[in-house]
Amino acid sequence: MRLAEDALSGSHGPPPRSLTILEPMASQNVPAAQQSELVIVANTLPVRREEVDGELGWAQSPGGLVSALSPIVREAGGCWVGWTGGADDAPEPFRHEDILNVAVPVSEVEVAGSYQGMCNSTLWPLYHDAVRPPEYHRHWWNPYVAVNRRFAEEAARRTALGGRVWIQDYHLQLVPRMLRELRPDVSSGFFLHIPFPPIELFLRLPWRRAVLEGLLGADVIGFQTPAGAYNFTRLADRLIEAEPQGETIRYQGRDIRVGAFPISIDTDRYANAALSPEIRERAEQLQQLRRGRKIILSVDRLDYTKGIDLRLKAFLEWLGREDRSIRDAVMVQVAVPSRERISEYQILRRDVEELVGQINGEYGELGVVPVQYFRRNLPFEELIAFYLVADVMLVTPLCDGMNLVAKEYVATRLEDDGVLVLSEFAGAAAELPDALLVNPHDVNAMAATIEQAVTLDPEDGSRRMKAMREVVRRHSVHEWAAQFIEALV
Ligand code: G6P
Repeated sequence: MRLAEDALSGSHGPPPRSLTILEPMASQNVPAAQQSELVIVANTLPVRREEVDGELGWAQSPGGLVSALSPIVREAGGCWVGWTGGADDAPEPFRHEDILNVAVPVSEVEVAGSYQGMCNSTLWPLYHDAVRPPEYHRHWWNPYVAVNRRFAEEAARRTALGGRVWIQDYHLQLVPRMLRELRPDVSSGFFLHIPFPPIELFLRLPWRRAVLEGLLGADVIGFQTPAGAYNFTRLADRLIEAEPQGETIRYQGRDIRVGAFPISIDTDRYANAALSPEIRERAEQLQQLRRGRKIILSVDRLDYTKGIDLRLKAFLEWLGREDRSIRDAVMVQVAVPSRERISEYQILRRDVEELVGQINGEYGELGVVPVQYFRRNLPFEELIAFYLVADVMLVTPLCDGMNLVAKEYVATRLEDDGVLVLSEFAGAAAELPDALLVNPHDVNAMAATIEQAVTLDPEDGSRRMKAMREVVRRHSVHEWAAQFIEALV
């Protein structure tokens, strides 16, 4: 069934501006010899400014995506188009470790309208099950279009004849179509790192048609899970004249491949780190935390989709059990600061810190603190040491595209011990059914699952962890990247 066309324009102000008819371009300004066969387009560059020996230079950004794609881009003599993360900050294109970095300028007004507004206050909550109310503002949409167009133009300039372009994530959903209009010769893929919502939610978006058509400019559209691919296909069927045929959608005479490409981690890096003598020594030091207690760990960006507040409530509930006390377990919550200029994030921080204070105030004793809360980004080595000492890892997002923390924990458990408690609503749950799966909205169920985790029969635990480790071992982020790029040919 398709929706009536008049329902599409809605009463939400002017129609999306000039998404169509960008003049095909003959790659102005960049000589063909300097164009790349493979171009990555992502909101941010794979490098960030860092002070090295008192001088400001560029260093590779942390994170799985960058470490997975960098070798491939390097090998292809490729280029990465992205933003530096600073307003009006656009250094000339530069090479870093054999990758050409092309910075796209984004003005202060565009950072507010496109990145903080449309991306992180409209699309982010909407795509994450509307766990916070998405805001729809027309003055955010135009900057989003403008920023997407600038990225598309830069990608069009940088790509060699018949080359491949891989566009990442929700910040850049209009780029595939814009790029196709500018450079019909290139093949392009789009990968969404966050969930693609059910049609009932997506249809609220005042600019739904423009976003959908933007995405359909790609030749391959990848999602984290089959559910995301299904939601998208169903939407394309309902909203526009696109015909789903198995794994492809036929639209305007083109066949577009739509599928699940679950992202993973650099498994070997985590497994090797778990063997590092320095990290193991650090883990030994952290054991001091234990004092006869189980260590329950959570590591999240301080984001409302991660369910940190409900998880703390569940821990409080568990502590309140007659047969339990603060001598049984300590909860370590690492919360990495994120998007701090957005008010919902400020509210979440306040709520989380209030709860930590409440639990420690109510239950703490001299020298025994039930919740250890760290609001900071841990260095990689420290993070692994925490994984090594954690008896239970609680990963309970309300909604999450994948959740790599779950996979990271599993990859470091070389002795197949440790228990992973995982939200049913994390993409990772589709691949890790041997975790203790839980509904993160159900505080009672979470408290019961904490109890199950701390008392799990070691043999059962070991069987589960072994199965999960095998999944993560077989499918690392390198395979993920290679498979997607292969699909682009
Ligand atoms: C999610 C998104 C990424 C984003 C990251 C951090 O994982 O899928 O694209 O980079 O969150 O968010 P930030 O707004 O700090 O880039």
